Amino acid sequence: MVKLGVNIDHVATLRQARGESDPDPVLAARLCEQAGCDSIVAHLREDRRHIQDRDIVLLRKAVKTRFNLEMSLNAGIVKVALAVKPDQATLVPERRQEITTEGGLDVLRHLKRTKKVSHMLLDAGIDVSIFIAPVKKQIDAAASIGVKTIELHTGSYARAFADRSAIREFAQIKAMTLYARKLGMVVNAGHGLNYDNTYAIARVHGMHELNIGHAIMGRAVFVGLKQAVHEMKAIIK
Ligand code: PXP
Repeated sequence: MVKLGVNIDHVATLRQARGESDPDPVLAARLCEQAGCDSIVAHLREDRRHIQDRDIVLLRKAVKTRFNLEMSLNAGIVKVALAVKPDQATLVPERRQEITTEGGLDVLRHLKRTKKVSHMLLDAGIDVSIFIAPVKKQIDAAASIGVKTIELHTGSYARAFADRSAIREFAQIKAMTLYARKLGMVVNAGHGLNYDNTYAIARVHGMHELNIGHAIMGRAVFVGLKQAVHEMKAIIK
């Protein structure tokens, strides 16, 4: 079965809105795991707008499944990752002004730096995944620097979902999954996946894991976090 990673950043966003200690991302991680998720995802952004350094230290200790830290190539963030040692680091691009991670990392453009950071992390025993657009040249670039796991950005598919162009976006994800699998890579996907559009992506042959945040946290407001994770697991199954 395709695995589910739950991104818990929004729990920290809510906490930071008041600057209090609740709601606690560590408790959220525990509930997601109790509901059967396969990994916990958190993004330590350079501006620390939601997840804080202390959170990832505590998450590292508390997470029993796999802890996947989303991070940019920034030297300070790399230092934190090397100290905390998550099970996995997912390299993402980062722009201060963006509301969320808008696109994939341009591995081709940042080849040297991406290679350097990837190998620093790999040498420290941290699995590395790179979040990229579902296009051949980015997959080839990731493969060329010796990274074996990628996460395909499903944002274009998700945005197009109610539209005819979603068929094209979906076909692209399917084809790029197959392409990367033939290169021997592990293929994950995420961004914008929700209770309507995840079904098709979960059926893509060779898909390993889906990382979902916003939709699950939004649903959790109404039905509770465990129920929201259960419902997403049921769709994937
Ligand atoms: N995967 C990656 C690499 C991301 O940056 C994000 C957003 O933080 C997600 C998955 C989850 O996206 P969403 O919150 O839209 O489900």
